[in-house]
Amino acid sequence: MLTAESLIATGRDCAPPLTPKLAPWMDRILQQPVVLADWLQNYGSPVHIVVGSEFRRNVKDLLSPLQLRGLSGGLFFARKANKLPWFVTMAKEEGIGVDTASLSELRETLQLGVPPQQIVVTAVGKSRELIEEAVKHGCRIVIDNDDELDLAKAVVHEVDRQAQIGLRFSGFIVQDRQVFSRFGLPVADAHNLVDSIREESLLNLDFLHAHLDRYDLDERASAARQMLAIADYANSRGHKITSIDLGGGILMRYLDNASEWESFKDALLSSVREERPYFTYLNDGLGYMRAGSEIIGRADLYPAWNSISKERFISAILDHQLDGMPLHKQFSDRKLKLYFEPGRALLDNTGMTATRVTFRKRDTLGNLLIGVAMNRLNLRPFRAEFCSDPFFLSTDSRMPITEGAFLVGNLCSESDLIYRRKLRLGTLPMPGDTVCFANSAGYLAHHMEIGTHGDPLPQNLLICAENWQVCDSLA
Ligand SMILES: Cc1ncc(COP(=O)(O)O)c(C=O)c1O
Repeated sequence: MLTAESLIATGRDCAPPLTPKLAPWMDRILQQPVVLADWLQNYGSPVHIVVGSEFRRNVKDLLSPLQLRGLSGGLFFARKANKLPWFVTMAKEEGIGVDTASLSELRETLQLGVPPQQIVVTAVGKSRELIEEAVKHGCRIVIDNDDELDLAKAVVHEVDRQAQIGLRFSGFIVQDRQVFSRFGLPVADAHNLVDSIREESLLNLDFLHAHLDRYDLDERASAARQMLAIADYANSRGHKITSIDLGGGILMRYLDNASEWESFKDALLSSVREERPYFTYLNDGLGYMRAGSEIIGRADLYPAWNSISKERFISAILDHQLDGMPLHKQFSDRKLKLYFEPGRALLDNTGMTATRVTFRKRDTLGNLLIGVAMNRLNLRPFRAEFCSDPFFLSTDSRMPITEGAFLVGNLCSESDLIYRRKLRLGTLPMPGDTVCFANSAGYLAHHMEIGTHGDPLPQNLLICAENWQVCDSLA
């Protein structure tokens, strides 16, 4: 077994590389360290940079599978994935809808001029005020549970207006297994629910909804088919279901390279099995754990490389066959619209985050730490780790090193690491150097952001990628 010192010296305890997929504008801005350093100087660190043209491209790409198959329906941009109003305006300009997850999001979306019929309210734990606002404006409301249904009934009577509602379902049976979710009404109760709403003249049951967490095509298609059957039942009972909304969770890709991704996952498992040195801070298994000689759990990682992202993922759902019948045909035969609510996939290639190196030091174990002027909540994945390597930029040459390092933030917390993996840097960064993270606009930048110890939230810059002009900035 190698000693810690010799591992450090040889860099054998570094994580295998995870080279990010870069949009052309990202590639170009990485060649402009002076521009990035200026933005950090003028707007503070970290700074989130976004480019709108990629969002518009994503809209077209994600709509194309529906258009190619002659399906009507479309997209609602799940704006919870990024707080910036710019993307809501772009969604409006591109003619797609917006999925709102709170009263503030709904109010802002209305204020930005998105037509109310193009807004769906999927918020978890809807307040009376939120439902009232949605009913008054005529937005689509997704009902998640019995209490919410009761609240909606009370509100429509109070304001004496009809509401356009959808029932959110969960608990779909797929290959004899029930798909777990804490969200949605039990699909097994669908008929009773549909019948009970029939008695409510002010509730217009217009659509059915589901959002499945995993990226499993069989689950998506199967849930869609189970909702088609519910739609048939509802229509036979006098409702008029016009659409099915399959939620978000459209896969996207952070990495360019399948073999790096496979090697990384293999190396992670091997390290937890102690067949190779650990490359994570304090031997974190990123989801895997050792229980005696057994390995339990699974890698808690977004599929950062996958072969079926974005429009391909949607196409595969639409072309999913059952007894020779593709799913899209089942929609067109019924003249039902189909909607998706992508957040992350619409934000693919739209954003980068930049920060500044503040210090280098060693922890008590001898690990090299590179401190940056941000905290881990400024780049926070839902999973155990953001699997995409950063870029270190400087205007001068830097000393070559074989040793790896951990990237740490500026919160007073031992756990404030930007990544849990030890990165192979190649050269030793200096304070003032720039560090960039690709593709941070979907959730990573905003979903859980905090300022550091009372410092303001990071600035966001809307950039024109032709001349690097800052068109707008917002905290
Ligand atoms: C109801 C609903 N719709 C859409 C989304 C967006 O998902 P994604 O950003 O993965 O596409 C979510 C995410 O949590 C959701 O809960």
